Amino acid sequence: MRGTHILTTRQFDHEFIDRLFEMVDKKVRPFFEKDRDRHPNPRLAHWGTWDSPNARRFDYLMGTIFCQPSTRTRMSFESAMKRLGGNSIDFGPEAHSSVVKGETWQDTAEVISQYCDVLCVRTQLDELPNIIAERSDVPVINCGSGRNEHPTQALLDLYTIKQLKGKVENLNVVIFGDIENARTIASLKQILSLYPLDIVEIDLMKRLTDPLDQYIEIFKKADVVYITRMQKEWHGDLGSTLIGTGNHRFTEKTLTLLKDDAIVMHPGPVVDEVTYEVRKDPRWVYKQQVKNGLYVRMALLKTVLGHH
Ligand code: NCD
Repeated sequence: MRGTHILTTRQFDHEFIDRLFEMVDKKVRPFFEKDRDRHPNPRLAHWGTWDSPNARRFDYLMGTIFCQPSTRTRMSFESAMKRLGGNSIDFGPEAHSSVVKGETWQDTAEVISQYCDVLCVRTQLDELPNIIAERSDVPVINCGSGRNEHPTQALLDLYTIKQLKGKVENLNVVIFGDIENARTIASLKQILSLYPLDIVEIDLMKRLTDPLDQYIEIFKKADVVYITRMQKEWHGDLGSTLIGTGNHRFTEKTLTLLKDDAIVMHPGPVVDEVTYEVRKDPRWVYKQQVKNGLYVRMALLKTVLGHH
């Protein structure tokens, strides 16, 4: 898989996913969950030698181009790279780059791929990761583009479901959020389409005035509930009027409908669509998702950089 671009969730198949998750289970999680204190050299900068005492050092450099806001994806990739023993450099704000002088993204990609070993891209434009990949000499990872693609979020969400539910097959998944505008939902639906399971979508843009009570039976059956914020940046003026109306909140009342072993997921950022009470419940597994984001991205970086 060395050198492979990660551009779309559609490129993942069972073989890729199983191999990646095996690496997370066998190499990454054990280090954080039990081996860390026993490691002969606990300094994480030396974790590049994790596989065996004689393994090659992980002295790679990651370039990040984030043209849209990001906390989790950006910091988890940076953390993943540094915990593996590598380092990262940032493109900085687009306004400070030569793109504003008229340099094309193609030419930019050709240049900056000489400075690093992998490039991570976040953008509002659907096509930008592909444009950069065409001229980049190093693998490109799509860290969220437009309204449809967030492949690494799909991987970490799938990993979390597998880890906490023990399987993916035959689950009842309820997706509760801004269905058309949330790329996390589009990517989750894409990756879950590889498995036989049931998905029910509750589109909060379309059904804002409906009381959630009408979904009682759906929530009672759910194994996984996946919530997103309203993606107000895509709503134009409507966005600010929808936020905070309270009609679309997932509350402790809805939570009481769920099975004891259901899980409630959210890609973050959480705005006001989930009450604070819900966040105290053990079924709210958001922190596990955040942790898995780091673990899955560590394995993914090892994979695309061909460091085994
Ligand atoms: C999401 C994104 O930017 O697509 N954040 C993330 O990467 N976890 C979700 C969002 O902004 O709602």
